[in-house]
Amino acid sequence: MYELTNKLEWGELATFVPNKILPVYNWFYYKEGFSRDLVLNLIRMFKISKGTTLDPFCGVGTTNLACKEKGIDSIGFELSPLALFAARVKTSDYDVSDLRETLKGIRRIKFRKLDRSWIPPNVRRYFNTHTLDDILLFRNVVEGIEDNLTKDFFRLGLISSATRCSYMYKDGSVLKRKKHPVPPFRKFYHHRMKRMVRDLEKLKVGKCETLVGRRDARKLKLPKESIDFVITSPPYLNKIEYTKIYNIEEFLFFRPDKKRGVRSYIGIREGNDIVKSYFSDMENVLKELYRVCKPGAKLAIVVGNGCFPTKVVESDILLSEIAEKIGFSVRKIYVMNRRWCMRNRTEKVGRLRESLLIFEKAG
Ligand SMILES: C[S@@+](CC[C@H](N)C(=O)[O-])C[C@H]1O[C@@H](n2cnc3c(N)ncnc32)[C@H](O)[C@@H]1O
Repeated sequence: MYELTNKLEWGELATFVPNKILPVYNWFYYKEGFSRDLVLNLIRMFKISKGTTLDPFCGVGTTNLACKEKGIDSIGFELSPLALFAARVKTSDYDVSDLRETLKGIRRIKFRKLDRSWIPPNVRRYFNTHTLDDILLFRNVVEGIEDNLTKDFFRLGLISSATRCSYMYKDGSVLKRKKHPVPPFRKFYHHRMKRMVRDLEKLKVGKCETLVGRRDARKLKLPKESIDFVITSPPYLNKIEYTKIYNIEEFLFFRPDKKRGVRSYIGIREGNDIVKSYFSDMENVLKELYRVCKPGAKLAIVVGNGCFPTKVVESDILLSEIAEKIGFSVRKIYVMNRRWCMRNRTEKVGRLRESLLIFEKAG
Protein backbone atom coordinates (compact mmCIF):
# COMPACT_ATOMS: atom_id res chain seq x y z
CA MET A 1 0.00 0.00 0.00
CA TYR A 2 1.27 3.46 -0.87
CA GLU A 3 0.81 6.55 1.20
CA LEU A 4 -0.82 9.38 -0.71
CA THR A 5 0.23 12.94 0.15
CA ASN A 6 -1.97 15.88 -0.74
CA LYS A 7 -0.46 18.61 -2.89
CA LEU A 8 -3.70 20.17 -3.99
CA GLU A 9 -2.07 23.61 -4.08
CA TRP A 10 -0.27 22.36 -7.22
CA GLY A 11 -3.58 21.37 -8.80
CA GLU A 12 -3.78 24.08 -11.42
CA LEU A 13 -0.16 23.52 -12.36
CA ALA A 14 -1.13 20.13 -13.78
CA THR A 15 -3.08 22.02 -16.45
CA PHE A 16 -2.04 24.25 -19.34
CA VAL A 17 -4.01 27.22 -17.94
CA PRO A 18 -1.12 29.06 -16.18
CA ASN A 19 0.83 29.00 -19.48
CA LYS A 20 -1.83 31.09 -21.18
CA ILE A 21 -0.19 34.31 -20.03
CA LEU A 22 3.43 33.23 -20.53
CA PRO A 23 5.36 34.41 -23.59
CA VAL A 24 6.36 31.58 -25.94
CA TYR A 25 4.61 28.94 -23.79
CA ASN A 26 1.32 30.34 -25.05
CA TRP A 27 2.11 30.20 -28.76
CA PHE A 28 -0.06 27.13 -29.09
CA TYR A 29 -2.83 26.22 -26.67
CA TYR A 30 -2.53 22.53 -25.83
CA LYS A 31 -5.29 21.19 -23.65
CA GLU A 32 -3.25 18.14 -22.67
CA GLY A 33 -0.26 20.19 -21.55
CA PHE A 34 0.91 20.99 -18.04
CA SER A 35 2.38 24.27 -16.87
CA ARG A 36 5.84 25.77 -16.88
CA ASP A 37 5.61 26.39 -13.15
CA LEU A 38 5.10 22.71 -12.44
CA VAL A 39 8.35 21.98 -14.29
CA LEU A 40 10.15 24.80 -12.45
CA ASN A 41 8.92 23.41 -9.11
CA LEU A 42 10.21 19.96 -10.06
CA ILE A 43 13.55 21.40 -11.17
CA ARG A 44 13.81 22.91 -7.67
CA MET A 45 12.54 19.76 -5.94
CA PHE A 46 15.12 17.58 -7.72
CA LYS A 47 17.80 20.32 -7.50
CA ILE A 48 18.49 20.00 -11.22
CA SER A 49 21.34 22.19 -12.42
CA LYS A 50 23.16 19.90 -14.82
CA GLY A 51 22.70 16.55 -16.57
CA THR A 52 20.02 15.70 -19.12
CA THR A 53 16.30 15.85 -18.47
CA LEU A 54 14.00 13.74 -20.64
CA ASP A 55 10.32 14.14 -21.44
CA PRO A 56 9.26 11.07 -23.47
CA PHE A 57 5.73 12.54 -23.97
CA CYS A 58 6.80 16.12 -24.49
CA GLY A 59 3.58 17.44 -26.11
CA VAL A 60 4.21 21.07 -27.00
CA GLY A 61 7.58 21.11 -25.25
CA THR A 62 6.73 22.62 -21.85
CA THR A 63 9.40 20.59 -20.03
CA ASN A 64 12.00 21.40 -22.66
CA LEU A 65 11.28 25.11 -22.76
CA ALA A 66 11.38 25.40 -18.96
CA CYS A 67 14.69 23.50 -18.94
CA LYS A 68 15.99 25.82 -21.64
CA GLU A 69 15.09 28.85 -19.52
CA LYS A 70 17.16 27.35 -16.73
CA GLY A 71 20.09 26.37 -18.98
CA ILE A 72 19.46 22.62 -18.51
CA ASP A 73 20.04 20.14 -21.35
CA SER A 74 16.87 18.35 -22.33
CA ILE A 75 15.36 15.86 -24.76
CA GLY A 76 11.68 15.62 -25.70
CA PHE A 77 9.87 13.02 -27.79
CA GLU A 78 6.35 13.17 -29.18
CA LEU A 79 4.24 11.37 -31.78
CA SER A 80 1.56 13.92 -32.62
CA PRO A 81 2.85 15.90 -35.64
CA LEU A 82 1.11 19.07 -34.52
CA ALA A 83 2.30 19.01 -30.90
CA LEU A 84 5.82 18.08 -31.98
CA PHE A 85 5.83 20.92 -34.48
CA ALA A 86 4.79 23.40 -31.76
CA ALA A 87 7.47 22.01 -29.42
CA ARG A 88 10.14 22.42 -32.10
CA VAL A 89 9.15 25.97 -32.98
CA LYS A 90 8.97 27.00 -29.32
CA THR A 91 12.37 25.60 -28.44
CA SER A 92 14.36 26.74 -31.50
CA ASP A 93 16.81 29.63 -31.61
CA TYR A 94 16.02 32.51 -33.97
CA ASP A 95 17.58 35.57 -35.45
CA VAL A 96 14.95 38.13 -34.42
CA SER A 97 15.97 40.68 -37.06
CA ASP A 98 15.34 38.09 -39.83
CA LEU A 99 11.88 37.46 -38.40
CA ARG A 100 11.13 41.17 -38.34
CA GLU A 101 12.10 41.48 -42.00
CA THR A 102 9.83 38.60 -43.00
CA LEU A 103 7.01 40.10 -40.97
CA LYS A 104 7.30 43.36 -42.89
CA GLY A 105 6.95 41.45 -46.17
CA ILE A 106 3.93 39.53 -44.95
CA ARG A 107 2.20 42.72 -43.97
CA ARG A 108 2.25 43.94 -47.54
CA ILE A 109 0.61 40.89 -49.10
CA LYS A 110 -2.27 41.75 -51.45
CA PHE A 111 -5.40 39.65 -51.39
CA ARG A 112 -5.69 36.88 -53.99
CA LYS A 113 -8.33 34.20 -54.06
CA LEU A 114 -6.90 30.68 -54.03
CA ASP A 115 -8.52 27.36 -54.85
CA ARG A 116 -10.39 25.99 -51.87
CA SER A 117 -12.12 23.08 -53.60
CA TRP A 118 -9.77 20.60 -51.87
CA ILE A 119 -11.25 21.50 -48.50
CA PRO A 120 -14.13 19.20 -47.62
CA PRO A 121 -17.37 20.55 -46.10
CA ASN A 122 -16.56 19.02 -42.69
CA VAL A 123 -13.54 21.36 -42.49
CA ARG A 124 -15.14 24.34 -44.22
CA ARG A 125 -17.95 24.46 -41.72
CA TYR A 126 -15.61 25.73 -39.03
CA PHE A 127 -14.73 28.94 -40.90
CA ASN A 128 -16.48 31.82 -42.51
CA THR A 129 -15.61 32.10 -46.20
CA HIS A 130 -13.51 35.27 -45.97
CA THR A 131 -11.47 33.89 -43.12
CA LEU A 132 -10.84 30.65 -44.98
CA ASP A 133 -9.74 32.53 -48.11
CA ASP A 134 -7.31 34.58 -46.04
CA ILE A 135 -5.98 31.53 -44.20
CA LEU A 136 -5.30 29.81 -47.53
CA LEU A 137 -3.59 32.89 -48.89
CA PHE A 138 -1.25 33.22 -45.91
CA ARG A 139 -0.68 29.47 -45.87
CA ASN A 140 0.59 29.83 -49.40
CA VAL A 141 2.76 32.82 -48.57
CA VAL A 142 4.28 31.11 -45.54
CA GLU A 143 5.00 27.95 -47.56
CA GLY A 144 7.03 30.15 -49.89
CA ILE A 145 9.40 31.37 -47.14
CA GLU A 146 12.82 29.94 -47.96
CA ASP A 147 14.42 29.57 -44.58
CA ASN A 148 12.83 26.57 -42.82
CA LEU A 149 13.17 27.92 -39.30
CA THR A 150 11.49 31.19 -40.27
CA LYS A 151 8.83 29.33 -42.23
CA ASP A 152 7.93 27.15 -39.26
CA PHE A 153 7.80 30.14 -36.93
CA PHE A 154 5.25 31.85 -39.20
CA ARG A 155 3.41 28.59 -39.73
CA LEU A 156 2.85 28.06 -36.01
CA GLY A 157 1.44 31.58 -35.72
CA LEU A 158 -0.77 30.82 -38.68
CA ILE A 159 -2.12 27.62 -37.14
CA SER A 160 -2.99 29.21 -33.82
CA SER A 161 -4.48 32.29 -35.52
CA ALA A 162 -6.60 30.09 -37.79
CA THR A 163 -7.92 28.24 -34.73
CA ARG A 164 -8.65 31.48 -32.92
CA CYS A 165 -10.50 32.93 -35.94
CA SER A 166 -12.63 29.82 -36.48
CA TYR A 167 -15.91 28.48 -35.11
CA MET A 168 -14.08 25.52 -33.58
CA TYR A 169 -14.68 24.83 -29.97
CA LYS A 170 -12.93 22.02 -28.09
CA ASP A 171 -15.32 20.57 -25.55
CA GLY A 172 -13.40 17.87 -23.68
CA SER A 173 -12.77 15.14 -26.20
CA VAL A 174 -15.23 16.48 -28.78
CA LEU A 175 -14.76 19.10 -31.45
CA LYS A 176 -17.83 21.33 -31.70
CA ARG A 177 -18.93 24.22 -33.84
CA LYS A 178 -20.08 27.39 -32.17
CA LYS A 179 -20.99 30.31 -34.36
CA HIS A 180 -19.75 33.46 -32.70
CA PRO A 181 -18.13 36.66 -33.97
CA VAL A 182 -14.54 35.97 -35.01
CA PRO A 183 -11.70 38.52 -35.25
CA PRO A 184 -10.63 39.60 -38.75
CA PHE A 185 -7.96 37.08 -39.69
CA ARG A 186 -5.37 39.24 -41.40
CA LYS A 187 -5.18 41.76 -38.55
CA PHE A 188 -5.19 39.03 -35.94
CA TYR A 189 -2.40 37.10 -37.65
CA HIS A 190 -0.25 40.16 -38.02
CA HIS A 191 -0.67 41.07 -34.34
CA ARG A 192 0.09 37.56 -33.27
CA MET A 193 3.29 37.42 -35.29
CA LYS A 194 4.37 40.77 -33.89
CA ARG A 195 3.75 39.50 -30.40
CA MET A 196 5.60 36.24 -31.05
CA VAL A 197 8.65 38.16 -32.23
CA ARG A 198 8.50 40.37 -29.11
CA ASP A 199 8.15 37.25 -26.93
CA LEU A 200 11.47 35.98 -28.18
CA GLU A 201 13.10 39.13 -26.92
CA LYS A 202 11.49 38.67 -23.50
CA LEU A 203 12.41 35.01 -23.02
CA LYS A 204 15.77 34.64 -21.32
CA VAL A 205 17.36 31.28 -22.02
CA GLY A 206 20.47 29.66 -20.62
CA LYS A 207 23.26 27.97 -22.54
CA CYS A 208 22.24 24.38 -23.11
CA GLU A 209 21.22 21.79 -25.68
CA THR A 210 17.57 21.13 -26.43
CA LEU A 211 16.53 18.30 -28.67
CA VAL A 212 12.94 17.46 -29.60
CA GLY A 213 11.98 14.76 -32.06
CA ARG A 214 9.43 12.22 -33.23
CA ARG A 215 9.83 9.01 -31.35
CA ASP A 216 7.65 6.45 -29.62
CA ALA A 217 8.05 6.55 -25.85
CA ARG A 218 8.17 2.76 -25.83
CA LYS A 219 11.26 2.74 -28.04
CA LEU A 220 13.38 5.70 -27.07
CA LYS A 221 16.49 4.62 -28.95
CA LEU A 222 18.67 6.47 -26.46
CA PRO A 223 21.85 4.99 -25.04
CA LYS A 224 21.58 2.99 -21.84
CA GLU A 225 22.02 5.02 -18.62
CA SER A 226 22.21 8.41 -20.35
CA ILE A 227 19.41 10.30 -18.61
CA ASP A 228 19.57 12.05 -15.21
CA PHE A 229 15.98 13.23 -14.77
CA VAL A 230 12.57 12.54 -16.28
CA ILE A 231 9.73 15.06 -16.09
CA THR A 232 6.69 13.92 -18.02
CA SER A 233 3.00 13.20 -18.29
CA PRO A 234 1.74 10.27 -20.38
CA PRO A 235 -1.71 10.16 -21.95
CA TYR A 236 -4.34 9.40 -19.32
CA LEU A 237 -6.27 6.14 -19.49
CA ASN A 238 -9.51 6.49 -21.46
CA LYS A 239 -8.88 10.14 -22.28
CA ILE A 240 -7.90 10.32 -25.90
CA GLU A 241 -8.84 13.78 -27.03
CA TYR A 242 -5.51 14.53 -28.69
CA THR A 243 -6.27 12.17 -31.56
CA LYS A 244 -9.47 13.93 -32.59
CA ILE A 245 -9.67 17.53 -31.56
CA TYR A 246 -6.73 18.72 -33.64
CA ASN A 247 -8.00 17.07 -36.83
CA ILE A 248 -8.86 20.35 -38.53
CA GLU A 249 -5.47 21.97 -37.86
CA GLU A 250 -3.71 18.78 -38.95
CA PHE A 251 -5.76 18.60 -42.14
CA LEU A 252 -5.18 22.21 -43.11
CA PHE A 253 -1.53 22.44 -42.22
CA PHE A 254 -0.08 18.92 -42.09
CA ARG A 255 -2.12 16.41 -44.08
CA PRO A 256 -0.84 13.60 -41.86
CA ASP A 257 -0.45 10.08 -43.06
CA LYS A 258 -3.46 8.48 -41.38
CA LYS A 259 -2.00 4.98 -41.30
CA ARG A 260 1.07 6.12 -39.45
CA GLY A 261 -0.36 8.04 -36.52
CA VAL A 262 -2.98 6.74 -34.21
CA ARG A 263 -2.00 3.12 -33.64
CA SER A 264 1.22 4.00 -31.95
CA TYR A 265 -0.40 6.25 -29.35
CA ILE A 266 -0.32 4.81 -25.87
CA GLY A 267 -3.27 2.56 -25.09
CA ILE A 268 -4.96 2.77 -28.44
CA ARG A 269 -5.33 -0.53 -30.22
CA GLU A 270 -8.54 -1.41 -31.97
CA GLY A 271 -10.45 -4.41 -30.69
CA ASN A 272 -8.42 -4.74 -27.51
CA ASP A 273 -9.26 -4.24 -23.89
CA ILE A 274 -8.34 -0.58 -23.44
CA VAL A 275 -7.24 -0.97 -19.81
CA LYS A 276 -5.00 -3.93 -20.65
CA SER A 277 -3.38 -2.25 -23.63
CA TYR A 278 -2.85 0.97 -21.68
CA PHE A 279 -0.99 -0.73 -18.85
CA SER A 280 0.96 -3.01 -21.15
CA ASP A 281 2.06 0.05 -23.18
CA MET A 282 2.95 1.94 -20.02
CA GLU A 283 4.89 -1.05 -18.71
CA ASN A 284 6.98 -0.89 -21.87
CA VAL A 285 7.49 2.85 -21.40
CA LEU A 286 8.62 2.37 -17.79
CA LYS A 287 10.98 -0.46 -18.78
CA GLU A 288 12.47 1.76 -21.46
CA LEU A 289 12.85 4.60 -18.95
CA TYR A 290 14.57 2.24 -16.55
CA ARG A 291 17.01 1.27 -19.28
CA VAL A 292 17.90 4.84 -20.31
CA CYS A 293 18.07 6.30 -16.78
CA LYS A 294 21.36 6.53 -14.93
CA PRO A 295 21.51 4.93 -11.48
CA GLY A 296 20.28 7.61 -9.08
CA ALA A 297 18.01 9.21 -11.73
CA LYS A 298 14.82 10.84 -10.47
CA LEU A 299 11.50 10.75 -12.28
CA ALA A 300 8.36 12.89 -11.95
CA ILE A 301 5.28 11.57 -13.76
CA VAL A 302 1.92 13.35 -13.78
CA VAL A 303 -0.97 10.99 -14.40
CA GLY A 304 -4.73 10.92 -13.99
CA ASN A 305 -6.87 7.94 -13.05
CA GLY A 306 -9.18 6.36 -15.61
CA CYS A 307 -12.89 7.15 -15.61
CA PHE A 308 -15.29 4.51 -17.00
CA PRO A 309 -19.09 4.28 -16.83
CA THR A 310 -18.89 1.57 -14.16
CA LYS A 311 -15.53 2.03 -12.47
CA VAL A 312 -12.55 4.17 -11.68
CA VAL A 313 -9.12 2.72 -12.51
CA GLU A 314 -6.38 3.89 -10.15
CA SER A 315 -3.62 4.47 -12.69
CA ASP A 316 -1.38 6.23 -10.14
CA ILE A 317 -1.27 3.15 -7.88
CA LEU A 318 -1.10 0.63 -10.72
CA LEU A 319 1.74 2.46 -12.48
CA SER A 320 3.62 2.70 -9.19
CA GLU A 321 3.28 -1.07 -8.72
CA ILE A 322 4.54 -1.70 -12.24
CA ALA A 323 7.45 0.73 -11.72
CA GLU A 324 8.44 -1.03 -8.53
CA LYS A 325 8.39 -4.44 -10.24
CA ILE A 326 10.70 -3.06 -12.91
CA GLY A 327 13.17 -1.85 -10.27
CA PHE A 328 12.29 1.77 -9.50
CA SER A 329 11.71 2.94 -5.92
CA VAL A 330 8.44 4.78 -5.46
CA ARG A 331 9.40 7.80 -3.35
CA LYS A 332 6.12 9.69 -3.22
CA ILE A 333 2.65 9.90 -4.66
CA TYR A 334 1.36 13.45 -4.46
CA VAL A 335 -2.31 14.03 -5.16
CA MET A 336 -2.66 17.26 -7.13
CA ASN A 337 -6.34 17.14 -8.06
CA ARG A 338 -9.45 15.27 -7.03
CA ARG A 339 -12.46 15.20 -9.31
CA TRP A 340 -15.59 13.14 -9.76
CA CYS A 341 -15.80 10.50 -12.42
CA MET A 342 -19.27 10.97 -13.91
CA ARG A 343 -21.52 8.74 -15.97
CA ASN A 344 -23.66 10.61 -18.53
CA ARG A 345 -22.43 13.85 -16.96
CA THR A 346 -24.89 13.43 -14.08
CA GLU A 347 -24.24 10.27 -12.04
CA LYS A 348 -21.17 9.95 -9.86
CA VAL A 349 -19.15 6.78 -10.44
CA GLY A 350 -16.32 7.49 -8.00
CA ARG A 351 -13.48 9.84 -7.09
CA LEU A 352 -10.67 10.42 -9.57
CA ARG A 353 -7.17 11.53 -8.67
CA GLU A 354 -4.59 13.32 -10.72
CA SER A 355 -1.26 12.50 -9.15
CA LEU A 356 2.41 13.27 -9.33
CA LEU A 357 4.49 10.10 -9.03
CA ILE A 358 8.07 10.43 -7.84
CA PHE A 359 10.28 7.44 -8.71
CA GLU A 360 13.98 6.87 -8.37
CA LYS A 361 16.34 4.39 -9.95
CA ALA A 362 18.58 3.02 -7.20
CA GLY A 363 22.11 4.47 -7.30
C1 LIG B 1 -0.52 14.41 -21.36
S1 LIG B 1 0.22 14.83 -22.90
C2 LIG B 1 1.74 15.58 -22.39
C3 LIG B 1 1.76 17.07 -22.63
C4 LIG B 1 3.03 17.81 -22.21
N1 LIG B 1 3.35 17.59 -20.82
C5 LIG B 1 2.89 19.30 -22.48
O1 LIG B 1 3.00 20.12 -21.55
O2 LIG B 1 2.62 19.65 -23.64
C6 LIG B 1 0.72 13.26 -23.50
C7 LIG B 1 1.36 13.33 -24.87
O3 LIG B 1 1.86 12.04 -25.23
C8 LIG B 1 1.78 11.90 -26.65
N2 LIG B 1 1.89 10.46 -26.96
C9 LIG B 1 0.94 9.50 -26.96
N3 LIG B 1 1.46 8.30 -27.23
C10 LIG B 1 2.81 8.49 -27.40
C11 LIG B 1 3.90 7.61 -27.66
N4 LIG B 1 3.71 6.31 -27.82
N5 LIG B 1 5.15 8.14 -27.74
C12 LIG B 1 5.35 9.47 -27.58
N6 LIG B 1 4.35 10.36 -27.32
C13 LIG B 1 3.10 9.87 -27.23
C14 LIG B 1 0.45 12.56 -27.00
O4 LIG B 1 0.41 12.98 -28.34
C15 LIG B 1 0.42 13.73 -26.01
O5 LIG B 1 0.92 14.91 -26.60
